[in-house]
Amino acid sequence: MDIFHIDGPVRLSGSVTINGSKNASLPIMAAAILVPGKTILQSVPHLSDIKLFSTLLENLGCKVSRDPNDNLEIDAAVVDNPIGDYEIVSKMRGSICILGPLLGRCGRAEVSMPGGCAIGDRPIDIHLRGLKALGADIHLKNGYVVAETPNGLIGTDIFLGGPFGSTVLGTANIMMAAVLANGTTVIDSAACEPEIVDLANCLNTMGAKISGIGSPRLTIEGVDKLEPVKYTVIPDRIEAGTFMAAAAITSGRLSIKNCKLEHLMAVVDKFRQIGVIVEKANGGIEVTRDGSLKTADVTTQPYPGFPTDLQAQLMALLSLADGNSIVIEKIFPDRFMHVAELNRMAAHLRKEGPVVIVSGVKQLIAAPVMASDLRASAALVLAGLAAEGTTIVNRVYHIDRGYEKIEERLNPLGAKIERQSI
Ligand code: EPU
Repeated sequence: MDIFHIDGPVRLSGSVTINGSKNASLPIMAAAILVPGKTILQSVPHLSDIKLFSTLLENLGCKVSRDPNDNLEIDAAVVDNPIGDYEIVSKMRGSICILGPLLGRCGRAEVSMPGGCAIGDRPIDIHLRGLKALGADIHLKNGYVVAETPNGLIGTDIFLGGPFGSTVLGTANIMMAAVLANGTTVIDSAACEPEIVDLANCLNTMGAKISGIGSPRLTIEGVDKLEPVKYTVIPDRIEAGTFMAAAAITSGRLSIKNCKLEHLMAVVDKFRQIGVIVEKANGGIEVTRDGSLKTADVTTQPYPGFPTDLQAQLMALLSLADGNSIVIEKIFPDRFMHVAELNRMAAHLRKEGPVVIVSGVKQLIAAPVMASDLRASAALVLAGLAAEGTTIVNRVYHIDRGYEKIEERLNPLGAKIERQSI
């Protein structure tokens, strides 16, 4: 197991290029299941979650490899074992997005129920409701969702809203099942996240007929088959937001390249509110902090609202603001594992249900802390960059799931992070 030693405080400066999006790559890799041929994906990041998902696809019968240009090739000529094992699905909830494409391709799927994780319950009831509406017979057997389509999938009108808004991977699942269904499917309350837009664009490149992309109403006319394509995944907006926070928390200046400002408007707005300068610069953004941080109130929301995947990182930043801020988590109300860890570093955070009151402190102090999930770990790394002394972050494997060698990206910018295997 690896740990990080982070010496702080540091001031970051320089330029960093954002990788392809993890959360766009995963459903797009699942979409390859629908194509009896070789899908070639550019800009898929090198992450442990991508490796695990590749193994999941290989277990189904696909061949997955990197070509000499680092493109990810998924050959789905054969998909003869439509089973998503507990072993993998329990490690990565994103695996559930094979369910829809497996039904579309094989007419049958057995995928382990994901269960909960460090950020909350993660139910899949809306996914199953949508697939049932398309004509799937679904039952649970030994912890597995067993789905079959005795009469094929049939297009219909589906409402995908839930208690916390739409569902990102639920929308991905239903969209991928519907592209090969008979007739037209209309999904209402579809997720509008850029990762869903990217998936829909990729499916259309493959020959699907999806309209309303980026809106809460998607119309999908079923087609007979999809063709293999080469497709480039969008840049990772959450990685970009994390580097923005790294610049801000260290009073630094970063030029963040290969990043789409339009995917980050709610984040940019919040950063500007707290006194961080964010400017559009050729093909990316420049982030500078000069002066103290102001307070802000933030509520996480489905896109285009402030993303839950940047809530922990913003909280680390607000813990150094001049006064009190309020953070409300409206997507995963229990996603606060970082609160107690940041408090170990002398932050002043008080959690009341899905709300955290952040009383800004002048200085964070290094401490040994425990990474609990991907984004919470990123917040601890950010805090470590700003804290006085040597912060030790345990269970770094959580960070490796979503940030490619983060220490090798941050150290050239002025960070002092050492990875140690223990
Ligand atoms: N929900 C239900 N029923 C469902 C599905 C979802 O009640 O059937 C609820 C969830 O419990 C949550 C809300 O709806 O309260 C939204 O969850 P969603 O389904 O949108 O989350 P997801 O698709 O499972 C993806 C990302 C997450 C990201 C969320 C929200 C991937 C692989 N995962 O999860 O990313 O936080 O959307 O934007 O794309 C991460 O990268 O760290 C991460 C957790």
